[in-house]
Amino acid sequence: MISLIWAMDENQLIGKNQDLPWYYPEDLKYFKALTLNKTIVMGRATYDSIIRRNGKKLPKRHHVVLSHRSVEDSEVEVINDLEKYLDIHHDEDIYIIGGKTVFEKAFPYADRLYITHIHQIYEGDIYLAPIDLNDFNLITKIDQTDLSFCVYERKS
Ligand SMILES: NC(=O)c1ccc[n+]([C@@H]2O[C@H](COP(=O)([O-])OP(=O)(O)OC[C@H]3O[C@@H](n4cnc5c(N)ncnc54)[C@H](OP(=O)(O)O)[C@@H]3O)[C@@H](O)[C@H]2O)c1
Repeated sequence: MISLIWAMDENQLIGKNQDLPWYYPEDLKYFKALTLNKTIVMGRATYDSIIRRNGKKLPKRHHVVLSHRSVEDSEVEVINDLEKYLDIHHDEDIYIIGGKTVFEKAFPYADRLYITHIHQIYEGDIYLAPIDLNDFNLITKIDQTDLSFCVYERKS
């Protein structure tokens, strides 16, 4: 099962200055609960932003990083062909966690989308292209004041 997980505002903004444009502890908790003990796949820029923010990798998750270069951590699996990786591992429980480059390459492989819709408009510099959700069913929606946690599953 290939899942994509991200948070975006009403304009599909996802990033600002190589970081998240917002701080929502409840979204970080949701992200942690879903990804703990799983494999998380990300682009090099997202990996670097995690290390900058936390000073270390996310605990108890196998990190797979798409990059043309090596990573200074032997526990990180570096790949340079995302499509090939997803073809090989599509039966495993894989979470694609960003950023834009990786989401857009991985979208055709997604079985499930975990989208946190933020009911605000923020400033930033990385926007996702418009997403066509016609191939997906909304299976869960949890509304909070500022956020909606939505899960979409690809129609069979
Ligand atoms: N809102 C959210 O949920 C969310 C989630 C994740 C990230 N973000 C935000 O998204 C932004 C980062 O997104 P991004 O699109 O700029 O970067 P990204 O997808 O995280 O990483 C891009 C990097 O991936 C590597 N890459 C891309 N295509 C490749 C290929 N074909 N072969 C080998 N390596 C390849 C390259 O690394 P090398 O240069 O090392 O080769 C490239 O610079 C940040 O602001 C971050 O905070 C937001």
